[in-house]
Amino acid sequence: MTKIINIPIADWNQTCPSAIHEHALYELEEGGVLFLPQLGFTIGEDEAPFLSPKIAGKSKNVSFDISTRKLRGSSVSEAEIRPLQSMMHRFAIYSNDLLFNLLPHYKAGIIQSRTSFRPAQIAERLTSWRKDDTRLHVDSFPSSPVQDKRILRVFSNVNPKGLSRRWRLGESFERVASRYLPSLSSPVRGISQFLQLCGITRSRRSAYDHFMLQLHDRMKADMNYQLNSGQMNYEFPAGSTWITYTDQVPHAAMAGQFCLEQTFYLPVASMQDPSLSPLRVLERLTGRKLT
Ligand code: SIN
Ligand code: FE
Repeated sequence: MTKIINIPIADWNQTCPSAIHEHALYELEEGGVLFLPQLGFTIGEDEAPFLSPKIAGKSKNVSFDISTRKLRGSSVSEAEIRPLQSMMHRFAIYSNDLLFNLLPHYKAGIIQSRTSFRPAQIAERLTSWRKDDTRLHVDSFPSSPVQDKRILRVFSNVNPKGLSRRWRLGESFERVASRYLPSLSSPVRGISQFLQLCGITRSRRSAYDHFMLQLHDRMKADMNYQLNSGQMNYEFPAGSTWITYTDQVPHAAMAGQFCLEQTFYLPVASMQDPSLSPLRVLERLTGRKLT
């Protein structure tokens, strides 16, 4: 079962003792969730109006790119865009600080990607089965290949009414991969170049990406797996933060509203133990190189 590891950090910029570094790094790579119950992200008084599902208009989330400072998917007016940008920018900086302080081993390799603000009530969201994150899955995105990188995410529940974010967490990556591997197909020759040339993918889809996408879909489409596989419920209270490898840990977000999330990519080679990565697990199970 997924392990939840309590980390007693109360400040985004807190210097941690090395015993915490080692413990956090080991458990994270083993497929655990680092849970920081005392670490909340404070929403300023002027930012409180953003805690509304209307902020995202038709899109599910608002996204922010720290490298360009660009905001996407929001419905706010020009006048309001700056404070929203600044709130998301602050979360991006804080998450980065937190990672550097808690997991200094990753400092050299980590790549900061998008920041997202998730103002929708999960339980009321209607989507296709493939986009339905209330179904257990590992993260893999059709248009954003990772090639050989890990997906590490920081989440913070900023619900102003004190409502928890309710997740389900599933069995180990190796178990899920072994379950579906016999039915997964190898990529067709030339498909990666084709997808990139047509603009369907932002970069080359590796054989690893190809397998992960199929795994994501198989898990979500399989109602027997959804209902009967080993799993547990976990509630992340308002005012708490958690960190996990969402490409490894089967997860489903069942209920909750208002969450900030920061995505990081980490090359498998920058891990303390690369053999624990989904890439290496799949390579071992298929007996072939996947990047
Ligand atoms: C997901 O990554 O599947 C959704 C997590 C969340 O929004 O809580
Ligand atoms: Fe996910």
